[in-house]
Amino acid sequence: MAKLIIVSNRLPVKLQEKDGQLSYQASEGGLATGLGSFYKKENNLWIGWPGQVVSEEDKQERIIDDLNKENMHPVFLTETEIKEFYEGFSNETLWPTFHYFSQYAVYSQQLWETYVKVNQKYCDEVVKQAGPEDTIWVHDYQLLLLPSMLREKLPDSTIGFFQHIPFPSYEVFRLLPWRKELLEGMLGSDLVGFHTYDDMRHFLSSVNRIVGYGSTHGWINTPTRSLLVDSFPMGIDYDKYAGTAALEEVKRRENVYRGNLNAEKVILSIDRLDYSKGIAQRLEAFEKFLEKYPEFQQKVTLLMLVVPSRDAVEKYKELKEEVDELVGRINGKYSRISWNPIQYFYRSYPLETLSAFYRMADVGLVTPMRDGMNLVCKEFVASKLDQKGVLILSEMAGASKELSDAILINPNDINQMVEALHQALTMPEEEQITHMRNMQTSLQRYNIHHWVSMFMDRLSYVKIKQLSLATS
Ligand code: F6P
Repeated sequence: MAKLIIVSNRLPVKLQEKDGQLSYQASEGGLATGLGSFYKKENNLWIGWPGQVVSEEDKQERIIDDLNKENMHPVFLTETEIKEFYEGFSNETLWPTFHYFSQYAVYSQQLWETYVKVNQKYCDEVVKQAGPEDTIWVHDYQLLLLPSMLREKLPDSTIGFFQHIPFPSYEVFRLLPWRKELLEGMLGSDLVGFHTYDDMRHFLSSVNRIVGYGSTHGWINTPTRSLLVDSFPMGIDYDKYAGTAALEEVKRRENVYRGNLNAEKVILSIDRLDYSKGIAQRLEAFEKFLEKYPEFQQKVTLLMLVVPSRDAVEKYKELKEEVDELVGRINGKYSRISWNPIQYFYRSYPLETLSAFYRMADVGLVTPMRDGMNLVCKEFVASKLDQKGVLILSEMAGASKELSDAILINPNDINQMVEALHQALTMPEEEQITHMRNMQTSLQRYNIHHWVSMFMDRLSYVKIKQLSLATS
């Protein structure tokens, strides 16, 4: 029976080891939470890195056995590969460039060579697992070369690629010394997907100007084959988030937290620690808000969860220090014995706790400087069972194209964020409900299942179209 093979840098679980005991914990990030509920269906499988260095062969065998039972196949990375492929080329070269922070980008031939080598390692594992009738779905910027590597080994296979982060404009993309190789890597796919129409347009423009292939309605004709490029805004597992928010245990936690917080209103902020998320700018806006609207002092608390991420990468270490310092400064300035303006947590939380936070929040504050999609804002909306609450959302997040009922802001405009906070905290309930209902209707319909089936249907269509082009 044909199967779907999902390939991403990380598996949806992370390996943990304590006193020689192995255990597996859910991975953070949009990709894992988004597709986590999907891949176990039928005989699908997921290939990726389990998130830890494992050098001992017998331990690798144990991990392979454990993961195979859950339809997962690990790719083990060495310490050097983690440093140069994951932390290095993926997160110090591609990540900053694709998020328009090219001043942070490191250009190193050594990192590039390891990136090529590790993409080849993923390719070898896929080739081991794939049959000719299988569909291979490659995800994200860590594996841009994989589609072409796979095409070379499995010329007739069905290969989809989806990019979860933004694709920058040509003027930024062309700064990369390996721009042509990266595009050629992606062009091995049959279908290339992005979250937004703008990302897709940027990609087509780079392909045109760097590789020299034009396009018509998203179709690119290379000298040997045709492929399609399109946008597919990713949704969430709506029922999972709404269902969790309805659990008695979650309501109980919400009551406990509310009782402990001592604030009339709660603003919620949840992100991985990342400079693309605009955490420092958000804190600055909150500080200005307390200054401009002192009547909210001792009444409103910013509940800020920052999930540790890529903490070996220099820019992330620096950001951690900046955020710690900002929170300390603002709390130092405004705190009272009975009230803290910011409740700051640097750790990850299980879904039930996040859900209680979503329920409890009067305002969801999601203000990335750049974000491919952003699923946190969608999870917040899905968890609002009473439809009360306001979403403030950055227009630089892909999700803003769908969620026009949010208060949309430019994260570089601190004053606009201050006014948005005021507007959100004073919005009449009926107005909150109208906006929340509109967003829920849309997110319920365009959920994760819809996203997967849209992508898969389009991929099948491409294969049929390619056949008819070949025979005409
Ligand atoms: O959504 C972008 C992304 O890089 C995913 O590819 C990844 O799963 C997630 O963010 C978390 O990042 P990391 O795997 O580096 O912890």
